[in-house]
Amino acid sequence: VKPKHKIETLAVHAGHAVDPSTGAVSPPIHLSSTFERAADGTYASGYIYSRDANPNRNALEQAVAAVEGGAVAAAFGSGMGAISAVFQSLAPGDHVIVASDAYHGTAKVVRNVHARWGLVPSFVDASDAKAIAAELRANTKLVWIETPSNPLLKIVDIAEIAGVARAGGAKCVCDNTLAPIIQRPLDLGADLVMHSTTKYIGGHSDVLGGVLVSKENDEFLTRVREIQASAGAVPSPFDCWLILRGLQTLPWRIRGHSDNGMAVAHFLAAHPAVERVYYPGLESHPRHDIAARQMSAFGGMISIEVKGGREAAVAVAAKVRIFTRATSLGGVESLIEHRASIAGEDPRTPQTLLRLSVGLENAEDLIEDLAQALG
Ligand SMILES: Cc1ncc(COP(=O)(O)O)c(C=O)c1O
Repeated sequence: VKPKHKIETLAVHAGHAVDPSTGAVSPPIHLSSTFERAADGTYASGYIYSRDANPNRNALEQAVAAVEGGAVAAAFGSGMGAISAVFQSLAPGDHVIVASDAYHGTAKVVRNVHARWGLVPSFVDASDAKAIAAELRANTKLVWIETPSNPLLKIVDIAEIAGVARAGGAKCVCDNTLAPIIQRPLDLGADLVMHSTTKYIGGHSDVLGGVLVSKENDEFLTRVREIQASAGAVPSPFDCWLILRGLQTLPWRIRGHSDNGMAVAHFLAAHPAVERVYYPGLESHPRHDIAARQMSAFGGMISIEVKGGREAAVAVAAKVRIFTRATSLGGVESLIEHRASIAGEDPRTPQTLLRLSVGLENAEDLIEDLAQALG
């Protein structure tokens, strides 16, 4: 496949080739940790040791890079592994700006791990371009954004913030976990895209993974690759195989998640027991116009605030029958979560908030389930 091919074609074929030794259409899983040297000591296949490179990981990296429109990708054993590799690629004393509404795990790893090794972070509201610009320093190396954010579904204007970062000599990294396919940060000016492939790309709640995609095969990505191989947070060949299989159906799945998400969001917005709906596809979302400009659909993540306080919210989650009470998102099955109880001390998440990952069941069944749970 070539970059000119459309996204569904790229997703099905990128990283896939019929196995030359057997004719297998589904790629073999190369569990081997090590690869044979020729008599002269060279590595004819190009593979040496699976922490450095493995055929399944290479295939996944090629495919994700093709689908995101980047030059190169690096896969990790979890989303957090990918996030950490970005910050580990910087030097002690470097300054980074992290969106204050980024995933709570991102803020946590920056504060509790990377700041202890000398990275200097500022946490800034990334919906405010002026605030980001004001925080840029001579040693600012990176601006980290996430949109839509988790769990408040806040929208960052990717082109605007990428422009501010570039003007300040910093790279812009966008966590695109909630909006694969339907949002293309590299086309909007971001330098790197990060995904927790545990979510929509894997798509079936059966694997952990993370990936970084870079617009350019540049010095920074070379450093990321060095961290990947030498720090060793690499995914197993089987994990790569599962994620690559998930990617094949992603363009169609994300359409289904988005259609169901929109139907469920409209139902919730009209329900008297619901105080507030956070969904970028609704016109009532404060930054719907920006979302509509930079997203081709709005995905399956919805947060709601239930009237009546924390107990009322927990009681709704207790009554669902099709939705499963569990953390995580992006799988074929719908999940519901009282977010404040998992996000710990995070003060951003209201106690009345339920986060929904709308799956690929029939939207009418999902709405009926929520209707009976809301009472
Ligand atoms: C937006 C976002 N980024 C990153 C992560 C971390 O990914 P992982 O759990 O695969 O380490 C998550 C996990 O929930 C997430 O939702």
